[in-house]
Amino acid sequence: MKLSVIGCGYLGAVHAASMAELGHEVVGIDVDADKIALLSAGKAPFFEPGLPEVLTSALASGRLRFSTELADAAGSEVHFVAVGTPQTRGSYAADLTYVDAAVDGLVPFLAEGDLVVGKSTVPVGTAERLAAKLAGTGASLAWNPEFLREGFAVKDTISPDRLVYGVPDGAAGERAKAQLDGVYAKALAEDTPLVVADYATAELVKVSANAFLATKISFINAMAEIAEVSGADVTKLADALGHDVRIGRRFLNAGVGFGGGCLPKDIRAFTARAEELGRGESVAFLKEVDAINLRRRDRVVDLVVDALGGQVHGRRVAVLGIAFKPNSDDVRDSPALDVAVRLHGLGASVASHDPEAMPNARRLHPQLGFAASADDALRGAEVAVLVTEWNEYRELTPEHAKELMAGTTIVDGRNVLDRDAWRAAGFHHVGLGRG
Ligand code: UDX
Repeated sequence: MKLSVIGCGYLGAVHAASMAELGHEVVGIDVDADKIALLSAGKAPFFEPGLPEVLTSALASGRLRFSTELADAAGSEVHFVAVGTPQTRGSYAADLTYVDAAVDGLVPFLAEGDLVVGKSTVPVGTAERLAAKLAGTGASLAWNPEFLREGFAVKDTISPDRLVYGVPDGAAGERAKAQLDGVYAKALAEDTPLVVADYATAELVKVSANAFLATKISFINAMAEIAEVSGADVTKLADALGHDVRIGRRFLNAGVGFGGGCLPKDIRAFTARAEELGRGESVAFLKEVDAINLRRRDRVVDLVVDALGGQVHGRRVAVLGIAFKPNSDDVRDSPALDVAVRLHGLGASVASHDPEAMPNARRLHPQLGFAASADDALRGAEVAVLVTEWNEYRELTPEHAKELMAGTTIVDGRNVLDRDAWRAAGFHHVGLGRG
């Protein structure tokens, strides 16, 4: 099928390349000429395992091209809208400027029978409003939320764990479903579960999934707070809870909390939208989820300050990790970066390291100290704090750290180090929620 993908950020670039890899003829469109130049040359504008390979192979097949012109969407049958919906400055609400601009911009290039498919995460009610913009074009609208995780984006796009279509009633809905079935023929042939619903349900699936995941993480982090004052060990608690299949062990890792381009902004936008709809109380708990999450960052900073006996100024601290999670160079709302910035703000001599995220962090916070390697960060540090659980840091041994560091305190902000081994080697190992 001929597809266009409007917006070539995280979601759109991966979607365009993956759809071409699946055999569709795809044009990816973005207003950012630098990004389009990179993508056209087969280079991913951000770190995502597997994306460069899929880009190269799809470009070589001739089925994938990129453009800065919305006019190049003309001739495609299905148009995916994959632009960002960031948090509005000074408010919790999602900023829909880019979504509106994409749909308005597409209208002159739509033909009878085309399908516009929203993939961006939007407040419930947006699809219905956007559908009205297509009146008179002969095109219709579907909402098809995307659940990809950074670090697994290509796999999640090619083999999603479920597909959700939000379609209009009647014949237009049936036609939209058939078109989307064509797009996702391979996944459907592999028995990927499919839920066909109305617009509002499809929009809500995405935000409620992220709200649930955020709540699960903040739940275990709340238990970590209780563990800290009661002497319990939250990692063992999570293991025991996780054996209950109704609860499950995934997303029960207590630590410095969640960040990234989705979970934090999505729970805030959900709160704002529920308030607009007069149902703020229904998701008021998400404010608490957000507050618990942000308190964990304070806690990590406090643990470092305590380890330094309250005297932070000029003291060298190694911060291992900057990205919001491993296998990503994304620093949006990153707890790790936040911890580094706060320690710097308190006067510490911060040596930050991340295998992939340093260029992005340096652009935003050039004042921070960056180390060329984890060893360089650790060299001479009085305290080390692990805030993104890259394998490279998980594999760090206390013996090696001891050779490099000036002090013997490690704050394990992700609870991934073997506490007993670090303690046996003479380290003061401080976990989160571990008594
Ligand atoms: C998330 C959703 O998982 C995905 O379905 C949606 O499409 C986009 O948002 P992503 O932002 O890539 O994906 O990250 P995810 O893997 O969900 O992790 C989010 C944050 O939670 C990270 O900062 C991670 O470190 C943190 N986290 C995750 C925990 O603190 N504890 C856990 O147990 C799991």
